[in-house]
Amino acid sequence: MADVSRKEFFDRIDGTPQKRMFLSIMADYDLPTAICELVDNAIDHWMSTGKPSGTIIRLFLDTERQLIAVRDNAGGVPVDQLRLLIAPGATRPLDAENLIGNFGVGGKRASVALGEHVVISSRNKQRDSFQIEITRDWLADEDWKIDVNQIPNIDPNTTNVRISEVRQNFTQTDLDDLYQHLEATYAVFIQQGCELHLNGRPVGVTVYDNWAFPPDYSPKQMAFEIRPSDSDSRSLKVKVTGGLIRDRIPEADNYGVYFYCNGRLILRELKTREVGYFITAEAGVPHPDGSLCRVIVELDGPAELMPWNSSKNGISFSHPAFLQVRPSIIELVTYFSELSRRFKGDRQGHVYQHDAGTVEPMSPTPSTTKKRLVLPPVKRDPKLSYSQRMLQLN
Ligand SMILES: Nc1ncnc2c1ncn2[C@@H]1O[C@H](COP(=O)(O)OP(=O)(O)OP(=O)(O)O)[C@@H](O)[C@H]1O
Ligand SMILES: [Mg+2]
Repeated sequence: MADVSRKEFFDRIDGTPQKRMFLSIMADYDLPTAICELVDNAIDHWMSTGKPSGTIIRLFLDTERQLIAVRDNAGGVPVDQLRLLIAPGATRPLDAENLIGNFGVGGKRASVALGEHVVISSRNKQRDSFQIEITRDWLADEDWKIDVNQIPNIDPNTTNVRISEVRQNFTQTDLDDLYQHLEATYAVFIQQGCELHLNGRPVGVTVYDNWAFPPDYSPKQMAFEIRPSDSDSRSLKVKVTGGLIRDRIPEADNYGVYFYCNGRLILRELKTREVGYFITAEAGVPHPDGSLCRVIVELDGPAELMPWNSSKNGISFSHPAFLQVRPSIIELVTYFSELSRRFKGDRQGHVYQHDAGTVEPMSPTPSTTKKRLVLPPVKRDPKLSYSQRMLQLN
């Protein structure tokens, strides 16, 4: 039998992806998740240009005509970077800031997941305006090249993603849900001055640190740093805050664990084994008696080190960054679930009436995990020098 390991048996093979990959990578998008990918991109641009005031991200979702548009005036995409909007894996060259985008796939797959016809127009600063169109034909053809057309000028600094022939119809109820989802997901950025509008209505903020401060049982916070990767010396800043809440809504089940990564809410009201429910006697099975317990996890640092999934709507529980934080989460879930149960007889007297106080610092719970993240040595676009960055910003 021939030795198939001999090199001459093999030719170099072509690893160019097929367009079908769009079908697989867009498979599990719902409306809020997909819309948020486009909002994330505008927010990232706003953050990486120093959070200028006057930035507005406008979402238009027309239930009658089933059209979607996401427009921002965060800066626009320079013509020589338009490929970032279409090439899977292509992402911004800057990697210093604590941003949301990291995988280089979000915007592309979300827009293709939303509809069969996507038109992206962008005008960087006061320069010319350009447009690319993702059509059914382009998705069916194996040629990855795409036409860039110059168009009459749109507003300066603007990117506009318009989607038609939507794959899943949406109703007014979907829009009401989306509005609430946006209020919670982007509260931090809206508070910092980035405006977000849905069909002309400014999106408000929903925050979850509505703590009660019962005497001797004030909320507790563990603040520490972790280094989840052996091959990356950078670290993530972690804050795990737990306490009893004053905003319990029985029918909403609004308790459990909440995760923010770089300010963006990723997951809320988690009540699973991974965060201590079912495995400690005190947290037990999620139950209304324990529903005053809330734990908020905030991670800040390089996007590459975050334990989020690639569509930013879940946490990867096997990720070393999560595993290193997990014992602290479980400790606070356990403690405040038990406390919640103890106070269930008189929530007003024991809990709700104590509406002011301070959050107490506490040492993190030691982590025994030895698992480390191995980051693949994937080439990113080169990091720009300081002077190049300044040129781009000005
Ligand atoms: N509205 C926008 N304004 C400016 N630049 C944008 C905008 N949308 C996309 N971009 C550019 O396109 C790049 C690719 O976006 P995409 O969402 O596909 O990937 P990403 O944000 O880098 O990573 P992720 O997959 O985690 O979202 C971004 O990094 C950014 O440079
Ligand atoms: Mg993105």
